[in-house]
Amino acid sequence: MAKSFDISRVGHVGIQVTDFDRSLHWYTQTLGLTLTGKWPMGEDGAIAFMRFNEDHHNIVLFTHPTEVDDETRNLGYNGLQHIAMEVADRDEWLKALADLRRKGVPIILGPMIHGPEGSMGAPANFMGGSGSRSFYFKDPDGNLLEIYSEMMKVPNGDLFPRPEYAEVFGARPPDLGNLSDTLQGR
Ligand SMILES: [Fe+2]
Repeated sequence: MAKSFDISRVGHVGIQVTDFDRSLHWYTQTLGLTLTGKWPMGEDGAIAFMRFNEDHHNIVLFTHPTEVDDETRNLGYNGLQHIAMEVADRDEWLKALADLRRKGVPIILGPMIHGPEGSMGAPANFMGGSGSRSFYFKDPDGNLLEIYSEMMKVPNGDLFPRPEYAEVFGARPPDLGNLSDTLQGR
């Protein structure tokens, strides 16, 4: 089928982790990533956005959506949460959305903007507040994919959210609810 939109690059990856604090420490201290922000997810889960360049996030950690131990770790679950492909701008993003819909690909979350400007301010729209336009769908094996554009930049040394507008994000960080369940269709 004809190509009708261009993907620029793999922009970020989401990873599910079984011990959130251990992994957060490892990715920031051992791998040297910078933490952009961390928020609660569900009853006792969390989500952390980390970066190694000026993008708001390059790697996102999610609490693994089920109780796992060494025996159950691979029973229907794996470490990959999602792979996100960046497109150049809103125009290209709209082309991608239209094209995938035309091809009958179910859009399982979104289209949305990740931030307080997202529709109705629903928690699932927040997703770290990066400002990205985004939608999610699956490949034939059920791997979760995202196409996004216009993620904000957070240079090293800068705070997110910036103090001048931190109140827009609320006194309490948004709880992202059962996001993993939503994304995985449970
Ligand atoms: Fe993402």
